Parts: sequence; C-alpha cells; structure tokens
Amino acid sequence: MQTVNVFFSLLSLFSVMVRTVMFFSCMVTVASLLCFGWMLKSKYFAALKEINKLKDGLHKKELLLTRYRSNCIVLRRENQKLKKNCTCKLPIHEITIKDDKNCLFYTGIEKISTFVKLFNFIFPYVKRRWVGFKFTSTILKRKFSKIPARMGPERKLCGKDEFLMLLMKLRLGLLEKDLANRFRVSMSTTSRVIRTWLKVSSSIMKSLIFVPDQGVLNITKPPVFKPIKNLHSIIDATELFIETPKGLINQRLTWSQYKHHNTLKVLVAVSANSSVIFMSPAYVGGISDKATTLHTDYLSLVPPHTTLMADKGFNIADECNERSIHFKVPPGRRGQSQLSAAALKATSSIAKLRIIVEQVIGEIKTFRILSQEIPISLIPQVDDILIICSALTNLKKPIYK
Ligand SMILES: *[C@@H]1O[C@H](CO)[C@@H](O)[C@H](O)[C@H]1NC(C)=O
Ligand SMILES: *[C@@H]1O[C@H](CO)[C@@H](O)[C@H](O)[C@H]1NC(C)=O
Ligand SMILES: *[C@@H]1O[C@H](CO)[C@@H](O)[C@H](O)[C@H]1NC(C)=O
Repeated sequence: MQTVNVFFSLLSLFSVMVRTVMFFSCMVTVASLLCFGWMLKSKYFAALKEINKLKDGLHKKELLLTRYRSNCIVLRRENQKLKKNCTCKLPIHEITIKDDKNCLFYTGIEKISTFVKLFNFIFPYVKRRWVGFKFTSTILKRKFSKIPARMGPERKLCGKDEFLMLLMKLRLGLLEKDLANRFRVSMSTTSRVIRTWLKVSSSIMKSLIFVPDQGVLNITKPPVFKPIKNLHSIIDATELFIETPKGLINQRLTWSQYKHHNTLKVLVAVSANSSVIFMSPAYVGGISDKATTLHTDYLSLVPPHTTLMADKGFNIADECNERSIHFKVPPGRRGQSQLSAAALKATSSIAKLRIIVEQVIGEIKTFRILSQEIPISLIPQVDDILIICSALTNLKKPIYK
C-alpha cells in the first residue's frame, strides 16, 4: 500500500515537474515568437524606409533624365542649325562679301546690290555659253535629241561664286591655285570658270565704255572745268608690266625704254566727269604714244571744233589740226612764265584735268591683276581684262561733281 502511495506521490510530483517544464517552454516559445515578430517588424520598417529612399532616388534620377533629354533636343537643334550655317557649305560669296566694305575690297564694286545687279545681268549669257567639254567623237553614234542643253560636268560652284571668283582674280590678282583652294574646286574648274566669265563679262560690260555725244559731254562736265570750252576728252597712254616674253623679237617689241621693263601699252580716254569713254586694245610697250593714238583711230571719234587734251608726249597736233580738233597739252613747262589771270585759271583747270586722267588710270590699276607683272599665259585675255576693269571703274563715283 505504501509503495502505491509513494508511486502516486512520485507520479504527481513528476506531473507537476512536467507541467512546470511545459509551462516554461511555452513561455520561452512565446517570448521568442514575440521577439522574432518584433525583429521582423523592425526589419520590415527598415526595408520600407529603404524602398522609399530608393523611390526618392529614382524620382530624382528621372527628373535628371528628363532634363538631359530636353538638353539633348536643344543641342540637336543647335547642331542642325550650325550644320546649316556651316561655312563649308555656304556659298563662298555669302561668307566673303558680307558687307559693302568687303564687297569693295574683294570685287572693286562699291555695293553688294550693284554686284547682284551686275551678276543678274551677265549670268543668263554665261548659262547660254557654258558648254563644258566639247564632244568631238564621230565614232559614237549619238541621239541628238537626248543630249542635254548644257553638256559637260556638273558645276560645283553657284553662279555668284563664279562671278566672285573672276572679280577676285582681277581685283586681288590671285593665282589660280590660290583661287582653287579658296573656292574648293579643281584647278581645271577654276581656269574654265575664269575663261568663260572673262569672255562673257567683257562682251557685256563693253557697253559701259562708249564715247558720248558732245551735248552729253557738255552737260556732264563738272563746274570746275567751265573755263575749258567745248571739252571733249582727255587721253593718256599707260603701260602694263608683263613677264619677259620668249623670243628676241617679242622681247624687243615689248621693251619700254621709259619703264625699263617689258610692257604693253594702252590708250585711255576719260571724260571730264572721270568716266572712261575709250579703252584701246593692248599694244606692245615699245610703240610711241602718237602711234598708239593714230592706230586706234581715236581721233575719228572726236568731233571737229571740240577740245582734246593730252600730255606732252602726244605729238598729234598736226593730225588734230587736220580734223579741226583743238589739241591742248598742259602749258607752262616750256618757258611760259607770264600768264594772264584768265590763262592762269585755264591752266589750273587743265592741270586738274591731267590729274583726273591719272587718277582714273590709278583707279583702273587698283585691280591688281593690272598693276602686277602680267604672266604671258594671260596676255591673250588682257583686252577683256582691261574692258572689265574700266567698266567697273565707271561704276564708281566721279572724282569731281
Ligand atoms: C546662322 O546664321 C544666321 C545669319 O546667317 C545668324 O543670324 C544665326 O545667328 C546663325 N546661327 C548660328 C547658330 O550661328
Ligand atoms: C557744247 O558747249 C559748247 C560751248 O562750251 C558749244 O559751243 C557747243 O555747241 C556745245 N555742243 C553741243 C553739242 O551742244
Ligand atoms: C559722266 O558722263 C558720261 C557721259 O560723258 C555719262 O554717261 C555718265 O553717266 C556720267 N557719270 C556721272 C556719274 O555723272
């Protein structure tokens, strides 16, 4: 019986112990669960915070990206504009003659508007004339109806650039190699353009050089020259330096005793209002002024009973007499010491006229192609060059008004 009691008491003790242990383990589990939950919660919040931070960052990045994108668009537009403006694609004349000052410097024409007018006048004739290479083949059978109106290679320059090229050649006296580089075309294109434009321009601008009626000359005479009655024109000869030609005969013919150089000689006639009214073809430099005048037959253009002025080198008094032209040379150099007041006035007018012709010739020679030594290869074109340079000089303002 006692053993049973002990057993039971032991059993109850054991159950109490088990319960206690279970209770504690339960408590531990709950505590650890709570602990775990709390940890989870804090982790969750940390994660949430992180996410928010990332979201914020993302937003900022997005803003930045939009800004970059808009910047990119702006830059692209600017780039396009620059490409359009890019100097290497603009026609050369737009870069070179931006204003009237540059126009005068590069072309000898005082205003861009005059340049454009002149161009518009000449260009149609250049287009008609332009044929490029000549097709001479007879082997190849061609259908003529299929041949384009203008043959030859594609033109690389616009018309105004071609005109500018010619004028720069004349005004600045540039070498063709230099022009080819400036206009970014080949040498052959350069010389073809210059040859074509030279011919066409001179044949058109020729009309700017003419001997007007005496009535017109009377009216356009500036008041300074009133003392000189019935004045027609003033003539002078000028010489152009040329490269020494090959061949002894040509060397001797072109040798100018006066300039000590091989030259060409031209006769220029100027009206009192400083217009070039006559430009002779070029003669060899060895010829006398008198021979030049007689050969060009300028005297036949001077009406009788008018006054023709010249320098002393022109011994054409007899020829003028025959035609009843009053021939005047600057007086007072050969021992004429006493002059009346009227004669003095006339003398000063005459001196001014002498200066006018010199100034006009000087103006023509501001086209450097004429003041430089002209290469032999250019001599066949000298007459055309002279016409163009004189015509352009006529477009300028007169010396006296
Ligand atoms: C492009 O050229 C025009 C005039 O030709 C000028 O007004 C404009 O400012 C130029 N643009 C740039 C981006 O240089
Ligand atoms: C020009 O003027 C002069 C006087 O200076 C005069 O004798 C002459 O008849 C005029 N000529 C013409 C064509 O009008
Ligand atoms: C100068 O006179 C010529 C005629 O002799 C005339 O054709 C020209 O228009 C005149 N020039 C000026 C600027 O008056």
